[in-house]
Amino acid sequence: MHDTTMKQFWNEEFKRNKDPWTEPDEVLVKEVEGIKPGTVIDIGSGEGANAVYLARKGWQVTAFDYAAEGIKTVEKMAASKNVELKTIVGDILDYQFKESYDLVLVAHLHLGPDERPLMLANTAKALAPGGTLIFIGVEPYEGMDASYKDQFAPTDEIAGIIGKIAGIKIEKAETIHRVISYPGGSEEVDSILIRATRI
Ligand SMILES: C[S@@+](CC[C@H](N)C(=O)[O-])C[C@H]1O[C@@H](n2cnc3c(N)ncnc32)[C@H](O)[C@@H]1O
Repeated sequence: MHDTTMKQFWNEEFKRNKDPWTEPDEVLVKEVEGIKPGTVIDIGSGEGANAVYLARKGWQVTAFDYAAEGIKTVEKMAASKNVELKTIVGDILDYQFKESYDLVLVAHLHLGPDERPLMLANTAKALAPGGTLIFIGVEPYEGMDASYKDQFAPTDEIAGIIGKIAGIKIEKAETIHRVISYPGGSEEVDSILIRATRI
């Protein structure tokens, strides 16, 4: 179940990259605009652009990722922007959360069909009563590399899994066509935005 090859891939990628992306996801920026800052955990935080953005907006942030090298970058980025945040090196497929959070963010953490329901169920366990879950992802598209296409699922499928988790209510499930930018390029994608709450 635990894919050490992917973990190694991310660690090598984060260690190699000396110029991390610092722009937060624009879908996230818009979505959190109206939410009063509280505690948030960013699951699969990568190099930390979203986590550091939220910390700068007054959120008490915990960045969570299984790649220790990514977490190192998050810590460096936070220090360079003069914000504090907590970090956890952990695997979302088996981590036992000791705390719950007002906001749980999962952005661009795509796992295959065998792991996706467990990832989303464990993610939901981090959510405090009345808290908000924001899932942002990308739909699979024609021409996507076959070696990783099965890690991507359409909005309806992700919403279907989240909607079946006990105590979780979907508030919004949207597909947003947009241009997404990243270091060295940009591409047109259908983004997934799911917002849910713990009732
Ligand atoms: C595509 S990056 C997304 C990073 C960031 N959230 C963003 O939106 O830019 C996926 C991240 O998920 C992390 N990840 C993948 N599988 C994970 C798992 N099972 N547990 C924790 N983190 C995981 C990777 O290490 C990587 O940092």
